[in-house]
Amino acid sequence: MEKMWTGRFAKALDKKADDFNSSLHFDCRMFKEDITGSIAHAEMLARQGIISEGEKEQIADGLSAILEDILSGKLDFSADAEDIHMFIEAELTKRIGDAGKKLHTARSRNDQVALDIRLYLKSETRQIISNLKKLIGTISDIASEHKSDIMPGYTHLQRAQPITFAHHILAYGMMFSRDIERLEDAVRRMNISPIGSCALAGTTYPTDREFEAEKLGFDGITLNSIDGVSDRDFCLELLSGFSIIMMHLSRFCEEIILWSSWEFKFVELDDSFTTGSSIMPQKKNSDMAELIRGKTGRVYGDLMALLTTLKGLPLAYNKDMQEDKEAIFDAVDTVKMCISVFTPMIATMKVLPDNMLAAAKKGFINATDLADYITKKGVPFREAYKTVGEIVAYCIEHNTVLEDLPVSVYKSFNDLFEDDLYEEISLSTCVNKRTSAGGTGIKSIEKQIDFLTKYADK
Ligand code: ARG
Repeated sequence: MEKMWTGRFAKALDKKADDFNSSLHFDCRMFKEDITGSIAHAEMLARQGIISEGEKEQIADGLSAILEDILSGKLDFSADAEDIHMFIEAELTKRIGDAGKKLHTARSRNDQVALDIRLYLKSETRQIISNLKKLIGTISDIASEHKSDIMPGYTHLQRAQPITFAHHILAYGMMFSRDIERLEDAVRRMNISPIGSCALAGTTYPTDREFEAEKLGFDGITLNSIDGVSDRDFCLELLSGFSIIMMHLSRFCEEIILWSSWEFKFVELDDSFTTGSSIMPQKKNSDMAELIRGKTGRVYGDLMALLTTLKGLPLAYNKDMQEDKEAIFDAVDTVKMCISVFTPMIATMKVLPDNMLAAAKKGFINATDLADYITKKGVPFREAYKTVGEIVAYCIEHNTVLEDLPVSVYKSFNDLFEDDLYEEISLSTCVNKRTSAGGTGIKSIEKQIDFLTKYADK
C-alpha cells in the first residue's frame, strides 16, 4: 500500500523497516474507538464549516459501513497499513474518494492516537471495575456464610490470635474496594479529550474542541496541546492500579495455595479449578491460583516497561510512544482474565471450618487474652505478659495447652487466676469480645459486609 506521506520521499520504505514500524497488528483492536472518534471529528468539521454537510454525511456513512464490515468479518486487517488510523482512513478514501481525504483536516495521528487510547481504556476500565464488583459480591457472600467460623490469625505466618474466616477474607474485600476507587479516580482524571491538539501546536482552523469532546463523552479538553499529545500519565496510573489489583490477587492466591496444602487443609478448591499431575496420581494442584500469582509479574513488567519508555522522551510525540499499547493491552487482558478466573474459583471453593478450628486450638493463640485477664484484675500488662509467657513455656514443657492447665497450676504463677479464666480464654470468647471497630467480633463483621455492599455486584 502506498504511504500517505509519500510526497517528500524519493524511495519507498525498506520492507523490514516497514514491518518494524507497523503497529496495525496490535493497535487494530482500537478500530471502534478510531471510527467513533473520526465520526465526531467529521461532525465538528462540518459544524464549523471546514467541510461541507454532504462530505460529512459521506464520511460518517463510509465509516459506519467500515465498522459494520469489520464487525461482521468482511473486512480484515491484512492490509499493510502503518497503523489502525492509516488503515481506516485509507479504506475510507478507497470507498468514498475525495471526501475521505478531508477527514484528517485539523488533526494529526498524534492527537488521534491519544484520543483512541483514552476511549479504549475508559471502556476497558469500566469492565474491570464491573469484574471487581462481582468479586467483592462473592467475597461478601462467603464472609456471610462464615461469620463465626474461627481460624488462627497469623503474623509472621505464626499463629497469633483467633479471628473468623469472614474477618480474614473481608480484608481482601477492602483491598478490592480501594482498587475500584483507584481506577475510578484515574478515569476521572483521564476523562478529558486531547483531540484538536493536532501534531503538537494546535491548528489555524476554527475548530471546536469542546463540541468534539462532549460528543465523545469527555468531561472537558486537555488545555495544553503539547501535553495533549505527549501525556501518557493515564496509562501509567491505570497500569499502577492494575499492578496493585494483581498484587492483591496474588496475596490471596498465595494464601489459597497454602490453605489447600495438606499441612493446612483450610479450604479445598473445586475439581473444576484444579489440575492433576502427569506422574503423581494423588496430586490436586492449585494451578489457577499459581498462574494468577505468576501473571502478577508480567503486569508489573508492563508498568516498568512504559515508565522506562517515557522517562527520557523530549516533548512532544516520539515514536517510542507506540510502545505504550502492547504494555497496556497486555495488562488489561491479564487483569481481566485473572479476575474472571479467580472469582468463580473462590465461589466454588469448599471452606473447611473444622480444620481451621483445630488449628486455632493449637499454638496458644489465646495467650494475649490470658494476659488481659489478669491485667483487668490490676496486674500491669507488661508483668501479665511475662507471667503468661512463663505459663506458655510451662505448657510446652508439659505438653499441654492453656485450656487444660489446672487452676492450681495457674495460681502457682499468680494468685489472681480463678476458675472463670477458662471462659475468658475460650476461642469464641476471644473472638466475640473483640468488639472494637474493625475487629473480629460479629458486629464489626456485619458492618464490614454492609460497607462492601456499595461496591458489590451479585
Ligand atoms: N501508531 C502510532 C502510535 O501508536 C500513531 C501515531 C503516529 N504518529 C506519528 N507522527 N508517527 O503511536
